[in-house]
Amino acid sequence: MKKKILIISGGISKERIISLDTGKQVAKELKKNNYIVKITEPNFQIYKVIKSFKPNIIFNALHGQFGEDGYIQSILETTNIPYTHSGVISSAIAMDKELSKKIFIKNNILTPKYIMYHFDKSKINLIKLIHKKLKFPVVIKPINEGSSVNVFICNKLNIFSKLKLLKNYKKIIIEEFIPGREIQVAIMGKKKLGAIELKPKRKFYDYDAKYKESAKTKHIIPINIKNNYLKKVLNISLKAHKLIGCRGITRSDFKFFKNKFYLLEINTQPGMTKLSLVPEIAEYNGMSFFDLIKWMLRDASIER
Ligand SMILES: Nc1ncnc2c1ncn2[C@@H]1O[C@H](COP(=O)(O)OP(=O)(O)O)[C@@H](O)[C@H]1O
Ligand SMILES: [Mg+2]
Repeated sequence: MKKKILIISGGISKERIISLDTGKQVAKELKKNNYIVKITEPNFQIYKVIKSFKPNIIFNALHGQFGEDGYIQSILETTNIPYTHSGVISSAIAMDKELSKKIFIKNNILTPKYIMYHFDKSKINLIKLIHKKLKFPVVIKPINEGSSVNVFICNKLNIFSKLKLLKNYKKIIIEEFIPGREIQVAIMGKKKLGAIELKPKRKFYDYDAKYKESAKTKHIIPINIKNNYLKKVLNISLKAHKLIGCRGITRSDFKFFKNKFYLLEINTQPGMTKLSLVPEIAEYNGMSFFDLIKWMLRDASIER
């Protein structure tokens, strides 16, 4: 009998457009391969949709807030229908960059040094604090966004104007800026799938570098690195995936500088368009886009 897959995409996060794209592409692939597919938004109708469509598996194609942070996962838990990617707690931890950094540090995984910023701190103290604990330039970012949304590299002169742009977030991470190479690793269940290097033409791997064809970030696979370093970064990624209790596919983002890997974050809902990084890493390792989706669906139903 044909399997029914409900794809949840869109949502309210700043990565809505990317999620819709992921949803569409996954749907196309599934339909081509004889699945019955329905796409829905994560709104108040979701229980109704699930009740009438009766999916065998739910494909979570959401990114960012409400889709990657445990919220939608906790709703899906109540339906008893298997869903792809990580569960409630792992999603919530991985989405919180402060919490996940604390876990990395506790477990000897190198991550950039950081301080937390709350908007009631005085300006003079902040500059002093950065001089003492980090040094300029620094990177400022919200604890719970993705796709480089509202990530800025700052110096002493522009840090307050940039921070102003983030005033709607409760907490901001201020990190030491790590120069060097940008390397990302895909983990698939208990398996290390592979790594890719990104060479952005822009100042860093920002939103445009990620999604605008014209910004032309170069993707390098296989990465040109000594084998023992490759092994190392794959091992760190699997360790982080396991530590946080992730399920299915994750993608860990690193900076590689002076022979050290700095883990920036682990993504529990990495981009899944045909041109996204995880599918590219899979393809290089002989796994087609459809093979990858099929694996995710199987994994979702087996692991529950
Ligand atoms: N501490 C840092 N040093 C250097 N570059 C950074 C740092 N933090 C973030 N970046 C740059 O910003 C990008 C996005 O940051 P990341 O922490 O992965 O957040 P997001 O969830 O938005 O992807 C990274 O891929 C990298 O190019
Ligand atoms: Mg990232």
